[in-house]
Amino acid sequence: METKVFKIESVADAAQEIAEAAEIIRSGGLLGIPTETVYGLGANGLDGAAVRRIFEAKGRPQDNPLILHIPEASWLTRYCESVPDVAWRLAEEFWPGPLTMILPRKDIVPDETTAGLETVGMRCPDHPATLAVIRAADVPVAAPSANRSGRPSCTTAEHVLEDMAGKIEGIVDGGGCSVGVESTIVDLTVTPPRLLRPGGLPLERLQAVLGGVEVDKAVKEKLAEGEKPRAPGMKYRHYAPEAPVTVVTGDAEKSARYIARYAGKGVGVLCFDEYADCFGEAEVRLLGPAADAAEQARRVFDSLRAFDGTKVEKIYTQCPDGSGIGLAVENRLKKAAGFQTVALPAGKTVVGFTGPTGAGKTSALLALKKMGAHIIDCDALYAEMLESDTALQNVICSTFGDSVWNENGLDRKALGRIVFSYEKELEKLNAIVFDAVPRAVFRRIGEAEETLIGVDAINLTDCLLRDFCDVTVAVTAPEDVRLARIMLRDGISEEAGRMRIAAQKPAAYYAERCDYVFHNDAPTAEEAILRAEALLKEILKRYK
Ligand code: TXA
Ligand code: MG
Repeated sequence: METKVFKIESVADAAQEIAEAAEIIRSGGLLGIPTETVYGLGANGLDGAAVRRIFEAKGRPQDNPLILHIPEASWLTRYCESVPDVAWRLAEEFWPGPLTMILPRKDIVPDETTAGLETVGMRCPDHPATLAVIRAADVPVAAPSANRSGRPSCTTAEHVLEDMAGKIEGIVDGGGCSVGVESTIVDLTVTPPRLLRPGGLPLERLQAVLGGVEVDKAVKEKLAEGEKPRAPGMKYRHYAPEAPVTVVTGDAEKSARYIARYAGKGVGVLCFDEYADCFGEAEVRLLGPAADAAEQARRVFDSLRAFDGTKVEKIYTQCPDGSGIGLAVENRLKKAAGFQTVALPAGKTVVGFTGPTGAGKTSALLALKKMGAHIIDCDALYAEMLESDTALQNVICSTFGDSVWNENGLDRKALGRIVFSYEKELEKLNAIVFDAVPRAVFRRIGEAEETLIGVDAINLTDCLLRDFCDVTVAVTAPEDVRLARIMLRDGISEEAGRMRIAAQKPAAYYAERCDYVFHNDAPTAEEAILRAEALLKEILKRYK
C-alpha cells in the first residue's frame, strides 16, 4: 500500500486534504496524525476491526489500551459512563492540551480500543489539523503514538514514515511536535486521582487543580517481575534505541564528568548542550540546555532515535531533575534505559582516597576533615557490616557455608582461611563486598549533613565506589619511606614490613587509576597534612 502524505500548514487552505484524511478514518483506514505531544497512529475508535489494524501495524501487545482523541470536551459524555466535576474542570483548564483523563467507558467503545478495560483514556489534542480531521470524520480517533512498538515516539512526519510507510493509508504532516513527549495521564476513577504517566502537562499544574495526586510507582521505578502497572503500557520496554542506555542522574556537572570517564569510540552520549565538547570521540547528541526541560522534552525522542544507524554499542545520558516537564523527560530516559540508572549523590562533593599501606592516607584524610569533610572509612564500615548487617551476613553464609558462622556470629577468621586459600573464593567474596559496601557508602553520603565527603578505600577504583566520587586521589610514597612508617606504626621488623609491602599492589596501580596523585614524602605527619591540604584546596576549586 502506498502511504499518502497530506501536508497541512494552514487548516483554512486544506479543506480537500482534511476531507480526504477524514475519509480514511471513516472507512476503517489508518492515519498518522500530528498532535502537540507526539504523532499518533489513528483509526476510528468505535470500529473494532480498524483498531485491530493499529495493533498489527505497530506490533503492539494486545493488552495495551488506546487513548480516544476528541475535538472538544462536550464529546466526553458520548463515550464515558460518568464524567466527574473534576474532569470538566481539568478539561476547561487544560484542553486542548497534553492531558489524558482515564474515565469509566460506555459500551459503545469497543473492547479493542480499551483492551477490555472498563475505563477509557480521553484526550483533546492541541493541533488544528488533527482537530479538523476528527470533526470532519465525526468519530473519536483511537491513537497510540505512531512509532513501532518499543521504539522512541515520533515527533515528525518523517519519523512516522520511517516506522509506518507502506503499512498505513495516510499521514497528516503538520510539522514538528511542539511538546515532544506524550500526554500526562491521570486516572480519575480512583481517589485520590493517580498520575499514571508524566507527560507534557507538568504534575505541579495538575496538583494545583486537583489538590492531592498520587504518583504511580511505575513512573519512577522498574516494576518487579509479574507486578501489574495501572497503565498497561508502562510495563513494556519503551522508547529504546538499539544500543543499551544508562541514565546518569545527579548534578549536571557531575553526570558529565562521570560520563566523560566512559566516553570514547563506540559510545553514544546524550548530554545537555553545555557539555557538548566533553566527550572526546564519543557520538554526541544534544538534549537541550540543562535548565530548559521543555526543550529537552522536544528533543528527547529525536535524539534517542538518532543513535540508531550509528555504530554505538552503549549510550550514556544525562538527566534533568524531576520538576515540571523534567519528570516526563526523566521517565522517558529511564524507560529507554530499562531503568538502568547510575544515581550520583546530588549536592555533595565526594573525594575518594586510595593507595597502599604506609603511604600516609591518614594524613590526607585528616587534611580533608580539617576542611569540614565527613570521612567514610570503608574498612571500618565493612567490619561493622560483617558484625551487624544481616543481609550481608546471609549472602556470605549462603555462599561459603555454615563453617563461617559460629555462636558469636560471622567468623572472620574462618572466612579469611577460605578466601585466602582459593582465588575463586576470594573473587566470590569480592563480588559480594564490592556490591554491598558501595551501596552502604552511598546511603551514608546521602545521610551526612556535611556537603564535603571523603571516602577512604583500598579498593576504591576496583568497584562502584569510584563512580560516586567526583574526584579520586591516590596517596603514594617512596618505598623506603613507607617501610620506615610501617615499622614504626606497627612495631614490626624490616623483613615483616617488606613482606607487607610486597603483598600489596604497587603504587603505580593506584596512581594510574586516580585523577590526582598525592606523593607523600613529607618528613613528618604535620608536614604531610599541610601539603595534603594545599593540594586538596587546589583540587576542590575545580570541583565545587
Ligand atoms: O500524547 C499522547 O498521549 C499520544 C498522542 C498520540 O495522543 N498518545 C500516546 O498513546 O501516547 P500510547 O498508546 O502510546 O500510550 C497510551 C498509554 C499506554 O501506556 C496505555 O497503557 C495507557 O495510556 N492507557 C490507555 N488507556 C488506558 C486506560 N483505560 N487505563 C489505564 N491506562 C491506559
Ligand atoms: Mg507509545
